[in-house]
Amino acid sequence: MTQTLTIPRPDDWHLHLRDGAMLKAVLPETARHFGRAIIMPNLVPPVVTGADASAYRDRILAAMPEGADFTPLMTLYLTEETDPEDVAKAAADGLVHAVKLYPAGATTNSASGVTDFDKVRPVLEKMAEIGLPLCLHGEVTDPDIDIFDREAVFIDRVLDPIRKATPGLRVVMEHVTTADAVAYVQGAPKDLAATITAHHLVINRNHILVGGIRPHYYCLPVAKREVHRQALVTAATSGDARFFLGTDSAPHIDALKEHACGCAGCFTATNAVSVVAEIFDRESALDQLAAFLSLNGATHYKLPVSVRTLTLRKGEHCTYPSKIDSDDGPVTVFDPGFPLHWSVTTGK
Ligand code: NCD
Ligand code: ZN
Repeated sequence: MTQTLTIPRPDDWHLHLRDGAMLKAVLPETARHFGRAIIMPNLVPPVVTGADASAYRDRILAAMPEGADFTPLMTLYLTEETDPEDVAKAAADGLVHAVKLYPAGATTNSASGVTDFDKVRPVLEKMAEIGLPLCLHGEVTDPDIDIFDREAVFIDRVLDPIRKATPGLRVVMEHVTTADAVAYVQGAPKDLAATITAHHLVINRNHILVGGIRPHYYCLPVAKREVHRQALVTAATSGDARFFLGTDSAPHIDALKEHACGCAGCFTATNAVSVVAEIFDRESALDQLAAFLSLNGATHYKLPVSVRTLTLRKGEHCTYPSKIDSDDGPVTVFDPGFPLHWSVTTGK
């Protein structure tokens, strides 16, 4: 008997679309399955002002494939020079849906991020006042902190102090990778939520390092031990409204991934929905799939749940291309390392 599942159209609450040729290549991959996405602002140079976000949004809309029905939700890149009034205006205009905080140097294109958190206090206070969410890349950059500990240390040193100093600020801890982050979010009030990627539900650090180094599994925050992956799966499938999908699909051309100093980022836009469905099916948690993919994020961002739908069908192996082409070069699609059975059929 064919098994099908119809859910409200999913949203991606953390997505890198890049610009130029790469934007053109990756946008159709997301627009095929997702209705909306929170668009990361870490371009070079970054999307800092409302005017930058408006221009970037126009470039995304111009690159949209024929017939696509996809809404980019823009964000601003928080710098120590960000003007609270510019943020407030961009939010009031309905242009910007979040501000992203990158600790300076934490990840790809984060050089203009924040070093002195006191300097961004007026912006955070304004955001708390107007109800605009703060998205955080939750890793410290202190060279003394082991890369596998950087998320857990961030909670104590940065996230908790920011939340205590700015009551009412709505925060999304992005791409959580540890049981520590899951527990912190579970123990916090509803104004704190977390995104989880498709790939962190699948890989642990062995996938990156055992039997040879696998650059296409390298992303930041880097995947941790198996016990942490299991905590993420438990959180994602629990139905807890504070956890939702943010793919962090982050395309880099193969030449820069398969490199002596390879870029961080997994490209999952193409198959993320099928990968997540497979994980939920294995956990006998398909009844929670809509919450994770389509409901919880909309609620946190105070946006309506999509009225459109997406239907998944379980069958023989469903296949995706192993790479997509861009005018800059090929981009490898995330390989979960196991067969996928849930294909996405027509959506409305
Ligand atoms: C992202 C990128 O490539 O822009 N890379 C990644 O490993 N996730 C940046 C980010 O979200 O950290
Ligand atoms: Zn990201």
